[in-house]
Amino acid sequence: MTETSLSSPTVTRFDGKVAVITGGSRGIGKAVADKLIKGGAKVVIGDILEQEGQATVDDFNKNAGSKVASFIRTDVTKYTDNKALFQHAESEFGGVDIAVLNAGIVSNCDTLFSPLDDDLEEKIFNINAIGVIKGAKVALLHMAKRGGGSIVCTASLAGLYCLPFFNAYNATKHALVGFVRSCQHLPDICNVRINAVCPGYVETDLLKNLVDADPSLAISICNPRVPLEYVVDGNIMFLSDTTKNAKILMVLPDGPQFSETPELPGSMISEASEKSTREYAKTVVPDGKEKLAKALQNYKNEYH
Ligand SMILES: NC(=O)c1ccc[n+]([C@@H]2O[C@H](COP(=O)([O-])OP(=O)(O)OC[C@H]3O[C@@H](n4cnc5c(N)ncnc54)[C@H](O)[C@@H]3O)[C@@H](O)[C@H]2O)c1
Repeated sequence: MTETSLSSPTVTRFDGKVAVITGGSRGIGKAVADKLIKGGAKVVIGDILEQEGQATVDDFNKNAGSKVASFIRTDVTKYTDNKALFQHAESEFGGVDIAVLNAGIVSNCDTLFSPLDDDLEEKIFNINAIGVIKGAKVALLHMAKRGGGSIVCTASLAGLYCLPFFNAYNATKHALVGFVRSCQHLPDICNVRINAVCPGYVETDLLKNLVDADPSLAISICNPRVPLEYVVDGNIMFLSDTTKNAKILMVLPDGPQFSETPELPGSMISEASEKSTREYAKTVVPDGKEKLAKALQNYKNEYH
């Protein structure tokens, strides 16, 4: 683990940039939206909470005195909704440069002895993990078309450590960390960076609703809280520091700290494996560019 300072080479102006934020009707997503708008960006919020989402963008627009934000009902588990979200950003504000893939739930996080119910089991994975992957894939197409962009996923400290009794939640957030760490070559393929913030406990509705639903959980989450602004600062650092890709930032009560990817154990490495890794490194970017060109063409064909 290495410590970091968020005052590293960051620019906090986002003039001319357009951001899509999932789960931005309230909580962390809303706070990131506010900071981006104050930095000059236009923001599109996609969330299932329609009234709260609309009220949030109405406030942003009123405070700015012009149209700086728009809301569209979005269920991140659906490709149709993810596509409509990014297309809405394009039609409202001209394109997408930033995606903050933040929607998430914690309900039904303790599933070991819950009913053997497919929908119940899949819901948290569909929102927290697969919803982010779907959002990232759609974001990539829009950003590649525009010449580049930056994606930040809201994972959690539960993606690196295991909160007791939160087995399904831990698994979804570990999945996000794995997804982000696997994207080392993305900037060379399409000039898009993807990183993840991993906050500890932040006082939002998510925590409150969890304890309201099951007061016995309060005892398992009595650790020190992380100020909301630290999580916002982590997002802003990733969005403005163009040297960062496939990085994981823990956001802790005393500040941010990068979590480094563990080294592959020595016994996994041989001369032959090193040779094949070098060969793979030569092909991964041209192969990725070819696959991206096909994906872009398919996406374009869908709408013509
Ligand atoms: N609060 C914490 O302690 C904490 C800690 C670490 C990580 N996180 C993560 O931060 C993110 C934001 O959480 P928050 O604390 O702001 O909670 P929150 O409940 O205030 O915000 C989550 C938002 O996601 C939205 N959402 C849920 N399901 C959705 C779906 N299917 N489609 C679209 N939107 C959906 C909700 O409506 C809500 O607006 C989550 O991914 C959460 O797991 C939170």
